[in-house]
Amino acid sequence: MTGLFITFEGLDKAGKTTQIARLAQRLERLGYTVTATREPGGTALCEEIRQLLMKKQSERLVDEAELLLFSASRAQLLRGRLWPELDAGHIVLCDRFADSTTAYQGYARGMDLEFIRQLNAYAVGNRWPDLTIFLDLTVEESFKRLGKVLDTTQAEVDRFEIESRNFYEKVRKGFLELAAGNPERIVTLDATHSVEELDEQIWKIVQKRLPRLES
Ligand code: TMP
Repeated sequence: MTGLFITFEGLDKAGKTTQIARLAQRLERLGYTVTATREPGGTALCEEIRQLLMKKQSERLVDEAELLLFSASRAQLLRGRLWPELDAGHIVLCDRFADSTTAYQGYARGMDLEFIRQLNAYAVGNRWPDLTIFLDLTVEESFKRLGKVLDTTQAEVDRFEIESRNFYEKVRKGFLELAAGNPERIVTLDATHSVEELDEQIWKIVQKRLPRLES
């Protein structure tokens, strides 16, 4: 595979979507073909899985089913879309990936971390991201940026947004420990920096890893 696979991780409102859009623009200006996508989601089928995962339902989604649905979406997105695009030389930017499963289902829900490691390996196959940008934000700042005390009766509030502060502290701890354990892949950036500063920092890191453009 010749492309470059970059994932973005972090708590809600860390700025992942904004930075992915800015990086995609920079790369496209240079002539790279960019795929920007998200997890769960990214293909028609995966977006349906996303609906199942995010919607508040009358029937509670059990933790085990949740874990398998995130993994199913990942297996499908990679084989159905991202691997062929990486093979074609695309630069793939993905909003969340397997590290989110470790942080949310493993650290925060308390599911078995060794099983999650194996399940992630199964879904991901041999194509881990070349680079993961972890935009680190405190839970307090994430909640502040969410800008509201969530009205959990509102239909548009998803299942994850109603989780407690303690849940998100564990998610953050998960990301921090993953970053400490995978320094060659995961770069941690302070997400309280301005949009422009982060954009520059990310660009410096990505530039060093760009594949040569075929002319
Ligand atoms: P987002 O698209 O707004 O980031 O929403 C995705 C939500 O799903 C977010 O709350 C994190 C959560 N999530 C997991 O719990 N496990 C996963 O593996 C992934 C990819 C996301």
